[in-house]
Amino acid sequence: MSGNNRVAVLDIDGKQFKLPVESPSIGPDVIDIRRLYRDARVFTFDPGYTSTASCESDITFIDGELGKLLYRGYPVEQLAINSHFIEVCYLLLYGELPNKNQLDDFDERVTMHTMVHDQMNYFFRGFRRDAHPMAIITGVMGAMSAFYHDSTDISDPDQREIASIRMIAKLPTIVSMAYKYSIGQPFIYPKNNLDYAANFLRMCFKVPPEKYIVEPDIARAVDRIFMLHADHEQNASTSTVRLAGSSGANPFACIAAGIACLWGPAHGGANEACLMMLRQIGSPDRIPEFIKRAKDPSDPFRLMGFGHRVYKNFDPRAKIMKQSADEVLNLVSNTNLPTLEVARELERIALEDEFFQERHLYPNVDFYSGIILDAIGFPTSMFTPIFALSRTVGWISQWKEMVADPTQKIGRPRQKYTGSRERSFTPLSER
Ligand code: SDX
Repeated sequence: MSGNNRVAVLDIDGKQFKLPVESPSIGPDVIDIRRLYRDARVFTFDPGYTSTASCESDITFIDGELGKLLYRGYPVEQLAINSHFIEVCYLLLYGELPNKNQLDDFDERVTMHTMVHDQMNYFFRGFRRDAHPMAIITGVMGAMSAFYHDSTDISDPDQREIASIRMIAKLPTIVSMAYKYSIGQPFIYPKNNLDYAANFLRMCFKVPPEKYIVEPDIARAVDRIFMLHADHEQNASTSTVRLAGSSGANPFACIAAGIACLWGPAHGGANEACLMMLRQIGSPDRIPEFIKRAKDPSDPFRLMGFGHRVYKNFDPRAKIMKQSADEVLNLVSNTNLPTLEVARELERIALEDEFFQERHLYPNVDFYSGIILDAIGFPTSMFTPIFALSRTVGWISQWKEMVADPTQKIGRPRQKYTGSRERSFTPLSER
């Protein structure tokens, strides 16, 4: 949204530069610095992009102070209760909630693309059985561009659409294949009369000799996890997808880049790291020892599942996830209760502690999600692949928005150079 001719005046050594100030539909105003280098021959400096808006977007909005997350304007809490993942996919991709015909058509299009090219099975055979599933899905997603040449021309809207549907449809199949491969079980084909979450659970947990009945409440909990992870503004992996896409790279390569970035423990890898931390703590009486470590600036240990660049009061997703954890643990027999008991006590102690309060450190989306997935029977190595499966629709929506933007150009940040000034080569004999 354009501003009303408001400007910010930058004074550098007595010379003034006027920078337009623009107002978004919600959130902080922005100072448009696109002409700053041309006019003032200076760069802005913002490592980690703590104060930088990298793009305009209509998709998702986060209010870090109020703990709000909106998908196309709808609060995530309302969607988590009233909607389901395929409907949220439609909303994120096309901007509006679908009517019945639109939803049925979209669901049908996704369902008809859940199988992968049979030749892709051989990709899995090339990995060690103990390969981390994130390594496998990063590779297989990138390899999809070798199979779907008819949907790699990003200038063609129809190809962009079919590539988007293919990735949303096939990620559950690929993620379940990575899991089956790691445990030495045969791949299970998708079943088209199941919904998205139920299909994923069946492909993960069915074995050929046995009938597998999906527990509806568990499928609902998994569907809710998918919805809560679907998109989140310009986080590290989404920014990676946008930057890769800005070069014109094909959509499969861009999403593979997003998966690779998500893997980091500071980002999507935190759910796996958090459950491992809760297990390491083991019992509430050991929590003070870990709180002490988290506060020690000389100790690199951080409380995984705590803190967020944007949320400074609470992560709305964590609140919903916490409720879901209670529901799921009441449903399943193999409850590893100590982790939930440790998580609850850790949250209580941390939220009363000044160090965490001063730094606005609260549980984030990764704090409870691992407990739910663990209780359902997933190994910790599958937590981030499930996050990637959920976030694929967000990455694709953001990528489509960027590619369709007529003002879009390749992303190419500059730097503050602190290296050597120009100098002449010194022959070896003189060094
Ligand atoms: C996700 O961006 C997104 O939207 C991401 C995500 C999404 O949906 O895409 O929400 C998903 O990635 C959630 C975050 C998952 N990561 C973790 O749970 C890992 C643990 N958290 C931290 O690594 C950290 O909180 C970050 C990376 C999430 C945020 O880091 P920031 O904003 O750069 O904050 P910071 O590192 O500057 O920390 C500020 C202060 C520091 O202390 P001081 O130097 O001021 O003394 O808070 C401390 C940090 O040491 N701090 C922590 C802490 N997180 C920050 N101390 C202990 N434990 C923590 N978890």
